[in-house]
Amino acid sequence: MKTRITDLFGIEHPILQGGMHFVGLAEMAAAVSNAGGLGIITGLTQRTPDDLAKEIARCREMTDKPFGVNLTFLPSVTPPDYPGYIKAIIESGVKAVETAGNNPAKYLPALKEAGIKVIHKCTSVRHSLKAEAIGCDAVSVDGFECGGHPGEDDVPNFVLLPRAAEELKIPFVASGGVANGRQLVAALALGADGINMGTRFIATQEAPVHHNVKQAIVDASELDTRLVMRPLRNTERVLNNAAVERLLEKEKALGANLKFEDIIGEVAGVYPIIMQKGEMDAGAWSCGMVAGLIHDIPTCKELIDGIMAEADALIRQRLAAFATA
Ligand SMILES: Cc1cc2nc3c(=O)[nH]c(=O)nc-3n(C[C@H](O)[C@H](O)[C@H](O)COP(=O)(O)O)c2cc1C
Repeated sequence: MKTRITDLFGIEHPILQGGMHFVGLAEMAAAVSNAGGLGIITGLTQRTPDDLAKEIARCREMTDKPFGVNLTFLPSVTPPDYPGYIKAIIESGVKAVETAGNNPAKYLPALKEAGIKVIHKCTSVRHSLKAEAIGCDAVSVDGFECGGHPGEDDVPNFVLLPRAAEELKIPFVASGGVANGRQLVAALALGADGINMGTRFIATQEAPVHHNVKQAIVDASELDTRLVMRPLRNTERVLNNAAVERLLEKEKALGANLKFEDIIGEVAGVYPIIMQKGEMDAGAWSCGMVAGLIHDIPTCKELIDGIMAEADALIRQRLAAFATA
């Protein structure tokens, strides 16, 4: 399938893998890219810019296809060495960057000069328009159903995507809640030029995480996620577990007085314990409502080929039949 997104990134299928903390390692990105999508290494999972350069080099040994790097701009008192990470990305020769969190304007000139295509992840039309105005090449439109940070507007993709289509000139992908070919076709109909998936890619053979994480996603239904940190205006959609219930109790008890320090035990430093050791109640970890649509743990190639075959059949048969009826 050819779309503005496949053209932009030089990939076979319009399927991106979103940056995921402690999931987006070289193995994940290479598997997605080898299957014809765009794999993404998560920049901040690497402790230093030098580590990121090594991870990119490791990925390059596993694939000769294009892949990208995610750089998430977090609110932080002591921010990571962003200029260092940008330098490492540029020097590595990677040609795609997914930015998220804050406005990436400060780093765009350097990225553009290096011929890097930038896709910015946004949870609203106004942020998407801002991304277009500052010169981003594409937007990843992340609906309320997404795993991770859905923002504070709570607009789901059935409204957010066609709203983005009304306003944007640059191409965008549908992000949040996507797992299958049916949804790829829907995303294309709603105006997107492809899809971005997070949670679905964790439940794959190649995802470099503990089997317990994959099984937890397969076992979960669309009712099993919770929104945490809403009082801090840093809302995150996570899979429910004992730590999340504890966290929500604290939010209820403290109300508007809640501070980050009150919940630090449930959210800080928990990713390696969950993703690598498989201790599923160690803390809150991002997971989308799409878990309800995930029933298996295929290889990335089986997953992507399956999505494309399902999409193709739907367009040729079901949709074509409606057009001629
Ligand atoms: C475990 C996990 C970790 C994530 N970490 C990040 C991250 O570090 N930076 C980022 O921009 N997005 C992150 N995301 C969001 C994904 O890139 C993607 O936008 C989101 O998962 C899409 O929703 P879906 O899970 O319904 O497919 C994460 C998502 C998950 C599930």
